[in-house]
Amino acid sequence: MGNKRKEECRIVSQEELLDGIYSMWLQTEEIAEEALPGQFLSLYSRDGSRILPRPISICEINREKKQIRLVYRVAGKGTEEFSRYHPGISLSVVGPLGNGFPVKEAEGKTVFLMGGGIGIPPLLETAKQIRGDVKVIAGYRDKQFLTEEFARFGEVFVATEDGSVGTKGNVMDVIREKELKADMIMACGPTPMLKAIKAYAEERGIPCYLSLEERMACGIGACLACVCQSKEVDAHSHVHNKRICKDGPVFLSTEVEL
Ligand SMILES: Cc1cc2nc3c(=O)[nH]c(=O)nc-3n(C[C@H](O)[C@H](O)[C@H](O)COP(=O)(O)OP(=O)(O)OC[C@H]3O[C@@H](n4cnc5c(N)ncnc54)[C@H](O)[C@@H]3O)c2cc1C
Ligand code: FES
Repeated sequence: MGNKRKEECRIVSQEELLDGIYSMWLQTEEIAEEALPGQFLSLYSRDGSRILPRPISICEINREKKQIRLVYRVAGKGTEEFSRYHPGISLSVVGPLGNGFPVKEAEGKTVFLMGGGIGIPPLLETAKQIRGDVKVIAGYRDKQFLTEEFARFGEVFVATEDGSVGTKGNVMDVIREKELKADMIMACGPTPMLKAIKAYAEERGIPCYLSLEERMACGIGACLACVCQSKEVDAHSHVHNKRICKDGPVFLSTEVEL
């Protein structure tokens, strides 16, 4: 994937959507033109105290304005630093990285876009680009975010753990309760959720793409901090491993073990 670039990207806007969840638009030079839904950017700390970049998925692309939107949760020092910056400040960004969701394959199909928590943002641009019948199934702990924006691109179903909004339970409970059916699935979220979706899809022979947002370090395929178990032997290393940052983060469910 020879198209990654390092750019200084100015923050165009930054807004707190919910407690600790931020939406940030970045002005890019060329990243937005090349970006695909499901790809991610690596963001560097401004003060150099944290050397490794933080990977954040692309939530939305505005090609006309050459801008990229990121929606992220403050998890530790790096994301806390980003959340403090105001419009006008620039961040070093490498991207677009990874492979992304195969939106063209979804044309004319009924597609479930299944997201859990902070795995939901990358599905927004995905929903926007799919020319098919999009059903968004979003699982939250309690409070929802981005659901109104998703409604512009498809039917939205919500699950909350406490039952305060939508179905009480998780994204699998929504499918059962509403008796939904799909030709294809794309999903991003916590591993237990992805495991359940993988089992559901494989039992029914539904093609299913999972975005594995595991821990990463270098983000460019060099350190092997992010490997996951694959079914096939890797052509380069001859082992049952795939690098999530370089070979993924999106994999066909049947290619990977979770
Ligand atoms: C492909 C990909 C896409 C992602 N997209 C999003 C997104 O759209 N929104 C969002 O809120 N989060 C996303 N994450 C998770 C996000 O990268 C981590 O929350 C973030 O790196 C935490 O950094 P920190 O310094 O705040 O926390 P710390 O815990 O202080 O981080 C310490 C180190 O661990 C790494 N790290 C910690 N947690 C994670 C994690 N879950 N995944 C990867 N590396 C981690 C950091 O990069 C850093 O090197 C994504 C992760 C990956 C791999
Ligand atoms: S993060 Fe270094 S190889 Fe994937």
